[in-house]
Amino acid sequence: MSTTSAPVHKLYIETVGCQMNVLDSEMVVADLRRRGYELTDNTRDADTILFNTCSVRQHAEDKIYSALGRLRLAKQKHPEKIIGVMGCMAQKDQGLIFQRAPYVDLIVGPGQLHQVPDLIERARAGARQQSALSLGRKDGRVDEIRRSHESFDPLRDPSMRPTPFQAYLRIQIGCDKFCTYCIVPMTRGPEQGRPPEVLVEEARILAGQGTKEITLLGQTVNSYRFKDSAGTVTDMADLLHLLHEVEGIERIKFVTNYPKDMTFKLLETVRDLPKVSTYLHVPAQSGSNEVLKRMKRGYTVEDYLAMMERIEATLGDKATVSSDFIVGFCGETEEEFRQTVELVKRCRFKNSFIFKYSERPGTKAAELLPDDVPEEVKKRWNNELLAVQNAISEEDNQRFLGQTVEVLVEGPSKKADSDAVSEGGPLQLVGRTLDDRIVVFDGNPRLVGNTIRIGIYEVSAFTLIGTPVTQHVGPDLISLDSAR
Ligand code: SAH
Ligand code: SF4
Ligand code: F3S
Repeated sequence: MSTTSAPVHKLYIETVGCQMNVLDSEMVVADLRRRGYELTDNTRDADTILFNTCSVRQHAEDKIYSALGRLRLAKQKHPEKIIGVMGCMAQKDQGLIFQRAPYVDLIVGPGQLHQVPDLIERARAGARQQSALSLGRKDGRVDEIRRSHESFDPLRDPSMRPTPFQAYLRIQIGCDKFCTYCIVPMTRGPEQGRPPEVLVEEARILAGQGTKEITLLGQTVNSYRFKDSAGTVTDMADLLHLLHEVEGIERIKFVTNYPKDMTFKLLETVRDLPKVSTYLHVPAQSGSNEVLKRMKRGYTVEDYLAMMERIEATLGDKATVSSDFIVGFCGETEEEFRQTVELVKRCRFKNSFIFKYSERPGTKAAELLPDDVPEEVKKRWNNELLAVQNAISEEDNQRFLGQTVEVLVEGPSKKADSDAVSEGGPLQLVGRTLDDRIVVFDGNPRLVGNTIRIGIYEVSAFTLIGTPVTQHVGPDLISLDSAR
């Protein structure tokens, strides 16, 4: 964008939290770029510093408060630098942020991000401590609360994406599940499905920009539901059918799933639509019925296992399932923790994200249940469950040895040798299978964005290691790697 004589503003933005936040940051940057902002990767050069924050665990908040603390002196020396706090912690802590860091210029909740450019302008003109927040869950009529959390998804900035051919598409805002430990329903507001025609249009725009893979986002994405004015309901399975028709889109993933809404209809759709990923991230949270009840998750271990059976019956070994667990939830006993270990062993997840319970003010658990599991016990359980899961992941990956998998090449791996990049030589690349397994291999950087076949010769708990396969001759796979 040409900025003629207008001064170019330099924006530093730091994002923590889930994919929702990554997408929100993409949109804020798109909005600001359109007004002549350029990105910088350090706070020193920036005249505008934004933090997109997360409140899901205490640790995520601590990180931001210390980053703000480090800016105190910079702001004293350069009062013209604008500092903004956006996202879930802005919505949750509100004025508390100004108390802890009075030099912050703006706080903006996730439902108000369209206001960021104007608030920055006003701050430059001298306005202090402005805030734009959505209504709390009890602060008005349901439709008013809903509206105050609506986001502004059409603004996109392809250059902010991890790769040019992968993009997120938010299909659902908010959450109504109210698990007792979780802050998200308070920070993101009521659950709302976005209209299917808007989503199809957005997918078309993304495809036009070169996107091959879209990841549909929602806190309980498979509970997606939209009822139009005529009363017609579109559910997740229907939406997948609509998006599957969008030309140019080759892969469709969706996260995060809620166990109870993993219906046969949805699973059959996943089975029947070739573009749809068979990777199902369905957090169980615990393997104990008593703990699940205290968490108010709305299902039992038996319900979860019945879901696993539905997945097995429809998708067989094409499906990969992963989970989240919280260890050390209020009142959790050694026996209850053992039941979680048993569930992990029984379900043999592809991987699990394991978190130590972190009390969140404003949640039911914080109000009613004591956070009584000692930190060292949480740590021990965390390590033990992780070790059990990792052993399973490594064991299960063994079956890929000698197999060929289809991989969408995402880009250079973290370990890629930068000398090789500058010389244009082969490089360690990373990609993913349709069921979300990470694959690394040496290849030409031109392969990025293509779907290719990789023969696997080594595996670890998290990664398959292989080499591009270009021809199949006789019973053996011959790797010619002609792309080099
Ligand atoms: N909407 C998703 C996940 C949202 S948060 C879902 O319901 O599955 C991501 C993960 O963080 C959760 O699955 C849970 O395992 C964890 N989490 C949420 N609140 C937490 C808390 N207070 N302490 C520790 N972990 C938490
Ligand atoms: Fe939080 Fe539960 Fe909603 Fe997930 S389903 S966002 S864990 S309240
Ligand atoms: Fe964190 Fe908000 Fe996402 S609390 S996990 S950034 S929805």
